Amino acid sequence: MNNLLNTINETLLMGPGPSSVAPTVYSSIGKSTIGHLDPKFIEIMDAIKLQLQTLMGTKNELTIPISGTGSAGMETCFVNLIEHGEEVLILSNGVFGGRMIDVCERLGANVDSINQKWGEPITTDMISEKINSKKYDLIAIVHAETSTGVLNPIKELAPLIKESNALFVVDAVTSLGGVEICMDDWGIDALYSGTQKCLSCPPGLSPVSFSERAVNKLMNRKSKVPNWYLDLSMIANYWSGKQRAYHHTAPINMVYALYQALFDIIEEGPKKTFQKHADAHQYLLQKLEELNLELLVEKKYRLPMLNAIKIPAGISDMDVRSSLLNDYNIEIGGGLGNLAGNVWRVGLMGHTARNENIDRLFNALSSIL
Ligand SMILES: Cc1ncc(COP(=O)(O)O)c(C=O)c1O
Repeated sequence: MNNLLNTINETLLMGPGPSSVAPTVYSSIGKSTIGHLDPKFIEIMDAIKLQLQTLMGTKNELTIPISGTGSAGMETCFVNLIEHGEEVLILSNGVFGGRMIDVCERLGANVDSINQKWGEPITTDMISEKINSKKYDLIAIVHAETSTGVLNPIKELAPLIKESNALFVVDAVTSLGGVEICMDDWGIDALYSGTQKCLSCPPGLSPVSFSERAVNKLMNRKSKVPNWYLDLSMIANYWSGKQRAYHHTAPINMVYALYQALFDIIEEGPKKTFQKHADAHQYLLQKLEELNLELLVEKKYRLPMLNAIKIPAGISDMDVRSSLLNDYNIEIGGGLGNLAGNVWRVGLMGHTARNENIDRLFNALSSIL
């Protein structure tokens, strides 16, 4: 009988995610599955909370991984923090800002948005008038917009948002583990991420963290959280306290993977991990210059871990990406929306962010172009 798994070859993942998985993380997944209430597993859960707090820059008690990918984290934040008819402002400059709008509208919120041109950042000038003209219950933004390669300046925007008193929600799916996040210092009330980007893990979990203000909002809702699986008031009883209450069966081996990935980053030192991403980005830039290729985003707002490269005139996006995958086993991403056909998205996330991988891509592109 043909086993389809035998047809899988190692592919160098240099797209927008998933990224390459670290060998230590692969090994951790193969450890024996134990019960989700086993004291050893609970010890691992408690350790993950501390690891996430370190990487997110927070002391928030409610800091846990949600079962599901990054979108489950997005949904968790909004479904727990928004009630029907509340005023929400989404600061959007790409696909994932657009997804936030969709999720909030489905919850019956009155959603306003500020829509910046794709490839450009959200700035304080753009938001101050809007924030001052209306009282919002919640304001949300994507930190690292994977669809365009833009790093939104959360630290600069944060004081304005804090002044407005709205709950501040941040998507850190692509940024966590790749650049510094100071959740408490920046006044972020809810943050969500994903395992498959800069954490060098496969997809499957979405770390989230809620501030005291966010927890207060959750605990004093007028209506029940309209989603059983993602209701944090119930999930929290499994992730904290002396008596752990079963909610749903934790994806045990993915939790091992997240533990190992965070263990590796913290052992290396998060600052070193961030620097590794920055250095890989610089090395890629050097190599792109040799190929006369340019980035879409202005230098100040470039993500180190996701590089949107302008496709030169006369070059076929699909031909190049197909050749990279079929002839060189390298996956890169194409553009989305109006950037489709205009940019390639090259990810330098987690275990992928190494010069040897950039050399492999450079050599392949040099032959193809
Ligand atoms: C910034 C951002 N937010 C949210 C998501 C959604 O995450 P997932 O695809 O893991 O559900 C992604 C996925 O690429 C992302 O890059």
